[in-house]
Amino acid sequence: MNFINQTAIWAQLHQHQRATHYLHMRDLFAQDPERFNKMHQKLNGLLFDYSKNRITEDTLKLLIELAETAQIKEWIDKMRTGKAINLSEDRPVLHTALRQPKTANIYVAEENVIPKIHEELDKSLNLAERIRQQDYLGFSGKPITNIVNIGIGGSDLGPRMLYVALRPYHHEKINVYYVSNVDAAHLGETLKDLNPENTLFIIASKSFTTPETLLNAMTAKKWFIEKTQTTNISQHFLAITSNKQAALDYGIAEDNIFGMFDWVGGRYSSWSSISLSVMCAIGRDNFLEFLEGGRNMDEHFFSSPYSENIPILMGLIGVWYNTFYQSSSHAIIPYDHSLRRFPAHIQQLDMESNGKRTGRNGEHLDFDTGAVIWGEEGVNCQHAFFQLLHQGTRLICSDFIVIANSFYPEQNNQHQVLVANALAQTRALMQGKTEAEVYQELDYLPGIERDKLAPQKFFPGNQPTNTIFLERLTPFNLGMLLALYEHKVFVQGIIWGINSFDQWGVEYGKVLAKNIEPLLSSEDTTQYDSSTNHLIDYFRKHNKPNA
Ligand code: F6P
Repeated sequence: MNFINQTAIWAQLHQHQRATHYLHMRDLFAQDPERFNKMHQKLNGLLFDYSKNRITEDTLKLLIELAETAQIKEWIDKMRTGKAINLSEDRPVLHTALRQPKTANIYVAEENVIPKIHEELDKSLNLAERIRQQDYLGFSGKPITNIVNIGIGGSDLGPRMLYVALRPYHHEKINVYYVSNVDAAHLGETLKDLNPENTLFIIASKSFTTPETLLNAMTAKKWFIEKTQTTNISQHFLAITSNKQAALDYGIAEDNIFGMFDWVGGRYSSWSSISLSVMCAIGRDNFLEFLEGGRNMDEHFFSSPYSENIPILMGLIGVWYNTFYQSSSHAIIPYDHSLRRFPAHIQQLDMESNGKRTGRNGEHLDFDTGAVIWGEEGVNCQHAFFQLLHQGTRLICSDFIVIANSFYPEQNNQHQVLVANALAQTRALMQGKTEAEVYQELDYLPGIERDKLAPQKFFPGNQPTNTIFLERLTPFNLGMLLALYEHKVFVQGIIWGINSFDQWGVEYGKVLAKNIEPLLSSEDTTQYDSSTNHLIDYFRKHNKPNA
């Protein structure tokens, strides 16, 4: 189904948007006390409330028809069973296989991949347990207590998000640091207080060609050798990669190389050995629980009907705003300090997957695709960008992620304040405040002052939100939450007819950076546009490292 924008349902949805765009959610709630009951779904410890959206029951029917027309279920089956749906790289897309039990069977080129997945998983979990039990020692006999994960993009954002989110499950003696930026300050500041004797470096790179990661890895190796005066790095450097040869060439011992699979994209790989750092922090049982949570969401996604399927509903609501309202901005707002890295991870997951203008068969797409994903933890964001959500001119849908029980039960009063803020914001964004209500509120003022102030205090409302409520932030629930977003992205990619699993768009800038780098320290004439030429020249004149 390549030309979704030429289908009858696409035209019907445009027409439906024009016919309903004036509706206000305030009125829809007032007219139908059952609205919440009709527009929420539950799955184990997760509640998805989508009632505060600019949709009616008719909108949902049409959106589900769109999903059927795009053959979402058929594509789910193709993904699940290992068909090569990443067309431009001719690969299957099997991150869901990473969360399957040992007894499952999934075939790629007639080989069951499950035994290999579990072999790698066991290897990582076994090492993590040895580190946690202080059975794995550094070259001088000291146990490992500091782990530095060097990686970027999917080799950093996912594991880092999991590590931060699951803090209460951490081993008390193990600290993990994540170094991603090629800016020397990132590695420099991390290494400043570390002792190489109890530090383990994990070089996390699926391709083992990413220049930022390799440069940081080289600098780390140099630091280690200089500090310890030993060239015996084998106990202190591990690699996680699908490019074994490159890791061997770098000097990593064969036993210290943990495999990845070419049919799992970097941004979908948090379920694999790329999360070795997380396994060291939270241990085998918690990591297995996380996988189980993901699998639980998979089973729901694979088998629930369209109208009850949380990832499908979430994806469709996103398409409704993005395509039919032309509202391309989507915020993710976790009301939980532990989830503060979640928006950054979902930003890569979504934007690198669906930020595409070419269809999966090479056709030019004549409509908007991937949304701009951004966000920040609540309540901090209330004091930053919420003004624009409440009184700005833009339609922006937000996901509010709220947790019913905090990690600090003794501070439940603080937790109640946090949750009250989340619920108040979704209510205020939906309801708004009419001019009549504002006038009434200000009736203590003289008329002229009231007239002046009232327009400033008017809240249009009708600003959509989804609320995802988790009972607790357990590894299981976090697994469900992450898999939910992965599947939402999948649904949208299928509807728009794009391949969500390649990322050619990031290549061009990488090549140019390689070309520009030597020019920064040479006198050669540069032959780019006048801006780039002058900026190179500016750097040459002002970069004085020894001044
Ligand atoms: O940013 C491009 C990208 O290829 C991402 O897709 C990936 O997550 C990241 O770079 C890191 O790649 P690697 O794990 O191969 O170093």
